[in-house]
Amino acid sequence: MGKFVYISELKEKIGEEVEIRGWVYNKRSSGKIRFIIVRDGSGYLQCVMAKGQIEDQYFDLFDDLTLETSVIVQGKVREDVRAPEGVEVDLNFVKIIGPSENFPIPKVREDNIPDPGVLLPIRHLWLRTRRQWAIMRIRHTIEKAIHDYYDNLGFIRIDSPILTPAACEGTTTLFETDYFGEKAYLSQSGQLYQEATCMAHGKTYCFGPTFRAEKSKTRRHLMEFWMVEPEIAYAELPEVMENAEGLIVYIVEQVLNTRQEELKILDRNITKLEKIKKPFPRISYTEVIELLKKKGFNIEWGEDFGGDEETAISEDYETPVIVHRYPAKIKAFYMKRDPENPDLALAMDILAPEGYGEIVGGSQREDDIETLIQRIKEFDLPQEAFEWYLDLRRYGSVPHGGYGLGLERTIAWICGLKHVRETIPFPRMLERIYP
Ligand code: 4AD
Ligand code: MG
Repeated sequence: MGKFVYISELKEKIGEEVEIRGWVYNKRSSGKIRFIIVRDGSGYLQCVMAKGQIEDQYFDLFDDLTLETSVIVQGKVREDVRAPEGVEVDLNFVKIIGPSENFPIPKVREDNIPDPGVLLPIRHLWLRTRRQWAIMRIRHTIEKAIHDYYDNLGFIRIDSPILTPAACEGTTTLFETDYFGEKAYLSQSGQLYQEATCMAHGKTYCFGPTFRAEKSKTRRHLMEFWMVEPEIAYAELPEVMENAEGLIVYIVEQVLNTRQEELKILDRNITKLEKIKKPFPRISYTEVIELLKKKGFNIEWGEDFGGDEETAISEDYETPVIVHRYPAKIKAFYMKRDPENPDLALAMDILAPEGYGEIVGGSQREDDIETLIQRIKEFDLPQEAFEWYLDLRRYGSVPHGGYGLGLERTIAWICGLKHVRETIPFPRMLERIYP
């Protein structure tokens, strides 16, 4: 009788009898020896059945051990330096728990670039394959790194609501819903609420799903994505940039420290990640426009960047790039104007290397009530819905700022993925809400 353990613990169990509870990931046969690759969520394990060394009743189950059949196996752990886990198990017991006939993702397809038409409708099964397993584990590590980073700096996590009475990032991308006869919207950003909570706790952050009804079908857009949003009382733009820079460096460090196996499964070029060190270059929007013109882009001061421009800006650097002081006209209503040039907002975006585009958007916030009311009017927003937000400027207003880091774009960059749809367990896209 083997003792139940996880595959990830097997290195400490060499010579012992163990039991593994998992699923058949793959199998092959060579004469009288049969190999079954079992996965249990913690790792992958090569199990060996040798005719004569395991009872025939178990040996003969081999044909029924089709892909994704759930199995409990028992056997003795043996060191094997060639195996991914460094061990193999010589089986003496096999029990089928649940059969699996014609699993729709054959081994040959799973490691290829996903064919979205085929794999997205079976995302619930696709998640079991090796690449997706690696991505979700890196996602977990990035989420943990985010919490640890802020916790180490003394931030308090405070959750922002999802159902909201007004827009944060512009009215064109709101998901509207009926709230007992009143209009409500799924949150585009938890920021406005963090502006309230940082006035109570000094520095806070929220981390949750946000929603944008963006009719864009690009490799960087989801309708539902996760964003972490810190907000810091008394912080001005330079401190906001430094905080975000520190976060990105910390995330990359943690992934490199703990997820080498997963990065290897994804074939990620590690040397590119090892170059993510402080300081990131800081360039003003105005300088960037000049740079883009030199690169042959047909763009004028005042226009926003698209994906191609973002890629062109970042291609000169190995670290992320911070672009700051955008034209106020193309940024959100809450951003503070640059006292040195009122056409500019004290905004900053961080663009990831290797063409992954904007992963962070942030700013110093408008702290003057009259200017803010003026901005709400200019943006044609309903002032009554923002009275509570204006109160933050009526009672002890202070300079403050923060940013939002998009989790899925960050994962896509760190994992080296072509599209954000693989970075989230169940992507919500323009033409897809199933499964
Ligand atoms: O630049 P955004 O719109 O900024 C805000 O929402 C601010 N309120 C944040 C703040 O200051 N607290 O979004 C921030 C980040 C982007 O840089 C991007 O990484 C991600 O959120 N993002 C998306 N990710 C996936 N799909 C989408 N449709 C996204 N829209 C934004
Ligand atoms: Mg942005």
